[in-house]
Amino acid sequence: MRILVTGGNGFIGYNFILMALYNEYEVVSVDNLSVSSYKNDNELIDTSDSYKFYEKDIRDDDLKTFIGDHKFNAIINFAAQTHVDKSIYSDAEFISSNIIGVHNMIASVKDLLDKRSLPDNFKFIQISTDEVYGSLSSNEDAFSEKSVIKPTNPYSASKASADLLCMSYYKTHSFPVVVTRCSNNYGPYQYPEKLIPLAIQKIQNSNRIPIYGDGRQIRDWIHVEDHCRGILRVLESGHYGEIYNFGGYSEIENINCIKKIINQISPGEDYNNYIEYVKDRPGHDTRYAINANKSFEELSWKPKYNFDEGIIQTVNWYKSNQEWLSNHCNSDTYLKWVEKNY
Ligand code: DAU
Repeated sequence: MRILVTGGNGFIGYNFILMALYNEYEVVSVDNLSVSSYKNDNELIDTSDSYKFYEKDIRDDDLKTFIGDHKFNAIINFAAQTHVDKSIYSDAEFISSNIIGVHNMIASVKDLLDKRSLPDNFKFIQISTDEVYGSLSSNEDAFSEKSVIKPTNPYSASKASADLLCMSYYKTHSFPVVVTRCSNNYGPYQYPEKLIPLAIQKIQNSNRIPIYGDGRQIRDWIHVEDHCRGILRVLESGHYGEIYNFGGYSEIENINCIKKIINQISPGEDYNNYIEYVKDRPGHDTRYAINANKSFEELSWKPKYNFDEGIIQTVNWYKSNQEWLSNHCNSDTYLKWVEKNY
């Protein structure tokens, strides 16, 4: 089965490629290398005949030809601008990539399907986020697929727009789409714009981690491998026109998450030496939590990692992959981001 992974140099896309190759899929990856100009590599990928990478953007004019030429059985769209803070400072690229880019892809695929230029049983998987549901208070039930869409920042609004566009194509054109919505991912190959790798990088360099507001916001962390196994299940048996939630069942306050990481890297050290409370993120969502019952029941999926195991594995991965981290941190794209944000 030949699949196209878009955003294959990103954190979740890249982990998914490793898993798909391991499961003997033929993978073509495209990425515009905008998040990190340092291109990921890995032994499995370098030596695989079943893998090919193209530097390409999902908004490119020739995307339809590219998809038609490769006769993909499925496309999994990971390509997106994903960082909430970036979307607060400058949102144009989020609208362009996350909405216009998705439209370019599904309109291209629809055209190819109309002309019968793609294999039967073709599937388009749109990788979305639990952020489209907005924020929960401490006593509200976790988000299910039926929860109201109430995004609160330009990033989540752009992802919600793409979800709605995809679902409208399903209703109107019988477009073969499935949407997945997942909670906060962590694990190997995550870039240090996001909380967990940022914390690991800061502690390793004896710098302070910026904690937004009081640090009591809650996130439901899922190991990226668990998320990717869920996407594989969707590829194999997810139904067209359906939405599937994935979550880690590991809700934790940001400050407690950070304390666990400090404890693992510098046991016994005073936490206060590694943290700095800073101005809160505007519109900061208080709590995310996912109800993934539908994925349990319909996809026979369950997360394998609990957060305590997963964070140990992740910190150890970063300790043994310092070169990967420094390659990314020295890339122009990253340095510009640090200058702008901090
Ligand atoms: O819920 C899924 C979403 O999770 C994904 O769709 C997004 O792409 C992903 O970025 C993530 O969004 P968050 O805003 O929750 O992730 P982030 O790692 O940026 O922040 C996690 C929490 O940590 C959040 O409450 C903000 C806080 N934070 C973050 C950073 C980067 C800090 O306190 N300090 C920081 O420097």
